[in-house]
Amino acid sequence: MIILELRSVDGSSLPAWTPGAHIEIELAPGMLRHYSLCGDPADRDTWRIAVLRESAGRGGSRLIHEDLRPGDVLPITALRNNFELADATRYLFIAGGIGITPILPMVRDVAHRGRPWTLVYGGRTRASMAFIGELRAMTGGDLHIVPEDEHGLLDLDGYLGTPSADTAVYCCGPGPLIDAVEQRCANWPAGALHVERFTPKAAAATCADGEFDVQLARSGTCLRVPADKSLLEVLEEAGFEIDNSCRAGICGTCELAVVDGIPEHNDDVLTDAERDSNELLLPCVSRSKSAVLVVDL
Ligand SMILES: Cc1cc2nc3c(=O)[nH]c(=O)nc-3n(C[C@H](O)[C@H](O)[C@H](O)COP(=O)(O)OP(=O)(O)OC[C@H]3O[C@@H](n4cnc5c(N)ncnc54)[C@H](O)[C@@H]3O)c2cc1C
Ligand code: FES
Repeated sequence: MIILELRSVDGSSLPAWTPGAHIEIELAPGMLRHYSLCGDPADRDTWRIAVLRESAGRGGSRLIHEDLRPGDVLPITALRNNFELADATRYLFIAGGIGITPILPMVRDVAHRGRPWTLVYGGRTRASMAFIGELRAMTGGDLHIVPEDEHGLLDLDGYLGTPSADTAVYCCGPGPLIDAVEQRCANWPAGALHVERFTPKAAAATCADGEFDVQLARSGTCLRVPADKSLLEVLEEAGFEIDNSCRAGICGTCELAVVDGIPEHNDDVLTDAERDSNELLLPCVSRSKSAVLVVDL
């Protein structure tokens, strides 16, 4: 894992952000990658990110680890927050490995506001776990550092076994950890659990069944989306250049406005309220519950 500090080229203040936010960096033409801001939102001069080397990936993290040099200029193409910190009486944070990055500013914020918090932070070994010293300095909470080689896996049943009406749960980490937390929170109050995935769910990479038609509101053109293609692929084949990155419903880059019809969402980005409004979709994974979907293109 390496830590990068980013500043604006002309020395001006950086845009304001809130805990849970991430930036989108264009590492090379067409190669968009996302990194959670893990510094202090009060610092408007520097953005801090931490990047894990992902040897099974498509080369983004390798490029950061091997090719970037101090002083290089990187286009930041977006600042988003799909993982906002909701107001709650108390907080339970669960982080696995590099998933500590969005959680760290959340814990700092909650500690600063004097709300009770618990952080359960797992990793392979103590030496591989970033920011332990910084976390220990945060007050008013209950910090559990759980290196797997010393203590085994996180005791999720212990932390999540009894639903709590006034606790917000935030989880970020490897897919299997998020899946396990989702499973244990199935009987918690609706909206209590908030997760952010850095890698797609295995199932998200495959298209849902069924074909449907998409109508483009601005031209009236109608396109058929067959069962074996995503809406994004069909729009690209029709000549639309739609910003995208993960192509798996976890980053929010490809978001489109819906004019009519009912999307079948399949993503991990939109909130329940956004899904229910039927006003947005992510064409890399979303399909349609209605025979025709009209999008703002
Ligand atoms: C909101 C958000 C915040 C993030 N924050 C951080 C952060 O703070 N630090 C950090 O190190 N990383 C973060 N990431 C991940 C980061 O954006 C990159 O994905 C990561 O650096 C790896 O890039 P890569 O090009 O090397 O690999 P990628 O090609 O992005 O692959 C990453 C992993 O996902 C798998 N994968 C890729 N595409 C698919 C697919 N379609 N279906 C199934 N599996 C797939 C790969 O096998 C690999 O294991 C974040 C991602 C998101 C969406
Ligand atoms: S490209 Fe990431 S959500 Fe669609």
